Order: sequence, then structure tokens, then C-alpha cells
Amino acid sequence: MKKVKKAVIPVAGMGTRFLPVTKSVPKEMLPIIDKPTLQYIVEECVESGIEEILFITSPYKRNIEDHFDQSFELETRLERNNKLKELEVVKNISKMCKIYYTRQGEPLGSGHAIKLAKSFIGDEPFAVLYGDDLMKSETPVLKQLIDVYEKYDANVIGVQEVDRNLVYKYGIIEFETENKIKSIIEKPSIEEAPSNFAGLGRYIVKPEIFNELDKLDRGKGNEYQFTDAMLNLMKRQDFYACKFKRTYYDIGNQLGYLKANIAFALDRDDLKNELNKYLKEIK
Ligand code: UTP
Repeated sequence: MKKVKKAVIPVAGMGTRFLPVTKSVPKEMLPIIDKPTLQYIVEECVESGIEEILFITSPYKRNIEDHFDQSFELETRLERNNKLKELEVVKNISKMCKIYYTRQGEPLGSGHAIKLAKSFIGDEPFAVLYGDDLMKSETPVLKQLIDVYEKYDANVIGVQEVDRNLVYKYGIIEFETENKIKSIIEKPSIEEAPSNFAGLGRYIVKPEIFNELDKLDRGKGNEYQFTDAMLNLMKRQDFYACKFKRTYYDIGNQLGYLKANIAFALDRDDLKNELNKYLKEIK
């Protein structure tokens, strides 16, 4: 079985749910306290054993490249001013792993974005992480998916239970057995939903997914949907669910973003006491 060593992170979406800030700041770069969301996601990859990452980016998202690149001027200044702790933080970002970029000329959907990774991936299984789905977990969520991949030698989708009243917002999983996936129903009504497990922004797929992406027609929203390509591959290959532990935040919507900031801050020794006090005060 081939090991999962590469990850694709599509970050070329328009972020329309988070306007006006996303007019000039990519939602994936919005900070959770003092670190961009995307950095947490790259750290999740590195801690899961990923060695190379491809970002699918767009002309409006240049600061993503700047953030993960070496910053010679800043590093020189920090060194000159003896700010060694800060220097270490900045230097580590560019050393985390090998990062490559390709641009999606037009945001035609997640399927269109991931298809651009074909030559980078070649003939290997790979991870897909959505740049606006943030996980808070001791064991990295991607590592949990890789464990399931290695157990079954099959494609894997990261899933979690969601409130039954909110199934209409997600791709809902239909199970064949406890962990084997039969299908995914996009944004069903409560009555139509075959379960309350949703696919949430973490996938491991085999390279045959590119055959499906090549043949893909436009789907929901007149865009090429990655889910549709997975549904087609499901006719030929097995897909398993990784019911991952710990908390998921969709930072692409305002409430998810606020919750993530509060949860991560309440975990920090330098912030939690004052923040707790403040939250009680304003209740
Ligand atoms: P989303 O559907 O959450 O992102 O895609 P979006 O299209 O930016 O969101 P809204 O609805 O307009 O607010 C999940 C991930 O896939 C990327 C996004 O950047 C996000 O990280 N994506 C989406 C692409 O790279 N290209 C696309 O064409 C669409």
C-alpha cells in the first residue's frame, strides 16, 4: 500500500459568505487569535506525516504565498532587535514543509480546483483539506484519516455528527455498514437525510479520482463539485468514514469563526482567565 505523503489544499474560493473582509483578505488567512487559519491546517498536515503540500490559489490571494515564504527583512530586524522568540516563530513557518502553488484562473468549484493537482500527485493516494475547515484536536484529524486509510486501503472521508436540524447545510453520509460509505446526499431535508453524519473538509483519495474529475460535469451552483467526482469513484472503489474525534469549525461563516477564536483562546494560558472573566461580564 502506498503511503499518504502529499496534500492538496484548495484556497481559491471567493469567500462570499464572509464579505466584505474577503474582498481583500482571503478567509483562509483570517487569524484565529494571532495565527492564520491556514497555518493551523498546514501544521495538521505536518503532524500527520505529510511531506509536500500543493495550494490551489488565486491571483487575489498572494499573501498566502508571502506568509509561508521566508521573510528576510522581518527576520533580519527581529534578529537585530534581539527578539529571538519572535524570530523563531517566524522562521519556523517557512521551514515546516515543502509548499507548492498553482493558480485556479476562475473559481469554478472544488472539483475544478483539485483537478489542477493531477501532475503534482501522479500515481499516489493524497489528502485533501479544505482551507476553511479548522479542526481542534490533540491527535491531528488528518492522522486519524490516514489510520483509516491504512486499515482498509480505501478512500476515506472525515465525518462528524451534526445537529439533525442542520443536515440541510452539509453533504450527509449514507452508510452501507457501520463505517463503509454507500453514498453522500448533498444538503438533504431532515426527512431525506439518511443519517446525521456530515462530510467535513478532510479526505484521502486514490489517484483514480482524477479520471472522475476529468469527466466531471458541472453540478450544484453550476460548479464542478469534488463530491460528485467522489460519488462517481464510489461506483468502482470503496470509501470509508473516519468518525473523527474533536471539534470542527467552519471558519467560512461568521459564527464558526467567532466560536473558533473563543475556543482556541480559552486553551491559552496567557488569555483564558481574562477572557473567561470578560465572557461572564458581558453575558
Ligand atoms: P467553499 O465552498 O467553502 O468556499 O469551498 P467558497 O466558495 O470560497 O465559499 P463561499 O460560499 O463563497 O463563502 C471550500 C474550499 O475550497 C476552496 C475554498 O477556498 C475553500 O477553502 N475553493 C472553492 C477553491 O479553491 N476553488 C473553488 O472554485 C471553490
